[in-house]
Amino acid sequence: MSAGGKRAREPEPEPAAEEEVDLTPLQREELHAQQERDGILTFPIYYNDGTADSLTKLVQLKAIFCQQLPKMPKEYISRLVLDRRHVSLVCVYSGEIVGGITYRPVKEQQLSEIVFCAVSADHQVQGYGTRIMNQIKEECKRTGIEGMLTYADNHAVGYFRKQGFKKNVIMKRERWQGYLKDYEGATLMECLVDPSIDYLTTRQTADVQREALVKR
Ligand code: ACO
Repeated sequence: MSAGGKRAREPEPEPAAEEEVDLTPLQREELHAQQERDGILTFPIYYNDGTADSLTKLVQLKAIFCQQLPKMPKEYISRLVLDRRHVSLVCVYSGEIVGGITYRPVKEQQLSEIVFCAVSADHQVQGYGTRIMNQIKEECKRTGIEGMLTYADNHAVGYFRKQGFKKNVIMKRERWQGYLKDYEGATLMECLVDPSIDYLTTRQTADVQREALVKR
């Protein structure tokens, strides 16, 4: 996606609670898992089914996209977020929508196109972007989606790389060509979803494996 280029100028974000800032990725994963068990952190999925509740949530998510992707025309964001072929996975923390991903599942090709992805300014760099992506991967597993493709803004390539996306697209071109929207000045990236991986405990799994290796 090209037009998301620069970030919006935001007022200085409020510093997050100290315990959230200094956490290791493993501690963050454990904290989010606990918050999910406690019901403080949820990841509901919405699409435009015409209900007032879905529309309200989609409009709130759209507002975050508009702020965080200032180069993308607002009408374009609205159109896709509210388009019935698009689905949005929303991150709700303590009753507030703090981010999400809008994607378009192409069921016949077993792939999804990630269209917009953002976290509100005062909740960034606290692991929500990672958790949202891991939740999407779990949703892909549940719905038979084998891979995700996205045109990543060039400044967001590092974020997508950390989420397992690669510039080297393995999926055969005929499988995705014509199914994705084309963007200039953006980088096509792919992430294949492995049904045998529990994406919500990857840090924990890596930690257990590391300890076993050290012991050996
Ligand atoms: N470039 C490189 N690395 C990044 C970036 C970035 N722009 N943003 C986050 N990271 C890193 C973090 O440092 C962190 O690294 P670590 O795991 O080693 O600690 C990792 O990526 C994940 O960070 P999170 O805290 O989980 O991510 P966050 O909640 O901040 O969300 C996001 C990341 C969605 C990119 C957020 O910064 C954002 O909304 N940015 C503005 C909107 C945007 O650029 N969206 C993507 C556009 S492209 C598209 O939508 C298809």
